[in-house]
Amino acid sequence: MKIEVIENNKILVNSSKENFEIHPLWLRERAKTEDLMDKLTEQRIYDPSALNKSIKIKKANLKADMLNIEFTDGIFSEFKVSELCKELDTEKMKKGPVDEKIMWDSKLNYRPTAKFNNDYESKETFEMLKKFHKYGFVIITGVPTKNNYIVDFANSIGVIRPTNFGVYFDVKSIPDYNDLAYTPRHLYPHTDNPYRKPVPCIQLLHCIENEVSGGLSTLVDGFAVADCLRENFKEYFDILTSTKVRFRFIDKEIILENWGELIEIDENEKVKQIRFNTKVDYVPHLKNENLEKFYKAREKMGELCSSKNFELKFKLMPGDLLMMDNYRTLHGRTAYDASEGMRHLQGCYIDYDSSEGKLMHLLRKFG
Ligand code: OGA
Ligand code: ZN
Repeated sequence: MKIEVIENNKILVNSSKENFEIHPLWLRERAKTEDLMDKLTEQRIYDPSALNKSIKIKKANLKADMLNIEFTDGIFSEFKVSELCKELDTEKMKKGPVDEKIMWDSKLNYRPTAKFNNDYESKETFEMLKKFHKYGFVIITGVPTKNNYIVDFANSIGVIRPTNFGVYFDVKSIPDYNDLAYTPRHLYPHTDNPYRKPVPCIQLLHCIENEVSGGLSTLVDGFAVADCLRENFKEYFDILTSTKVRFRFIDKEIILENWGELIEIDENEKVKQIRFNTKVDYVPHLKNENLEKFYKAREKMGELCSSKNFELKFKLMPGDLLMMDNYRTLHGRTAYDASEGMRHLQGCYIDYDSSEGKLMHLLRKFG
């Protein structure tokens, strides 16, 4: 993308996709003089809606990365060309700080891992968060296993989203359980808590003890599975992206419900969110033929998620912390025998905005 000043002080953008003139008001809104913008917060101290809509550019001067502009209302401001170009690439901007997502299946040789580093302002934390955004998961090794350290960790890279399971929860086999995760049972591939509003974005599972021979962790790239369905089983893909299902959690204290598609797509048909949890889904009574299609489609999706082609299977060791995108990946666990010893994980949720905000902050430092 290139920016140039042409006759009549017009600012022209040339990109591979299109050429267009930047609207003077669009630039004027971004003017950064002390009277217009608070220096500390970069927030406007005037109402831009009240600007005269006929403001034009009186003079424009482009030198290297600097564009100096005098507007017809007497305001002078300078703009960094590189920053303007970044903002003018709307599609790229919308993708967020890490635009490159790497889809994977069980052939993924590279494992996104990171060594624990308690300096959350470090380049290592930056690299770790980038891996998470690219692959939808990262395993951090050597995270302290004492004093519910997961809470510190989560609040240092984001902000914890508490739920009725608490600020964090202990995943171990207990007699008085309110979720099958707290038993030694096999857990089919699932996304967590599709019954919440909104569904928690990022899940952390931190292994404290793991003395049993079973209890292996499984992980699948749900976006890759959805794309496989779209390519090879279009009819299934269509029913899963068009049927809103009710998800429900119930215990003695609360009933939680939310509705959504098993595969949600955006306006460009790109996969946006996976909700897959066969423990707690209730499809409405569709027409019989659609119900039959739905059941076959859900079965196929579950089959792919548990298949050798897509599933990663590994054992979490004490200190390992698995950070997963709960809108993209599905996780699960093989059954275990609780009489063999302790298996204890701690879990919690964080939202996207806080961890993405942290990544953008580190990008400003190291990017
Ligand atoms: C969970 C869960 C997996 C495990 O708590 O949400 O899926 O490995 N646990 O115990
Ligand atoms: Zn789970």
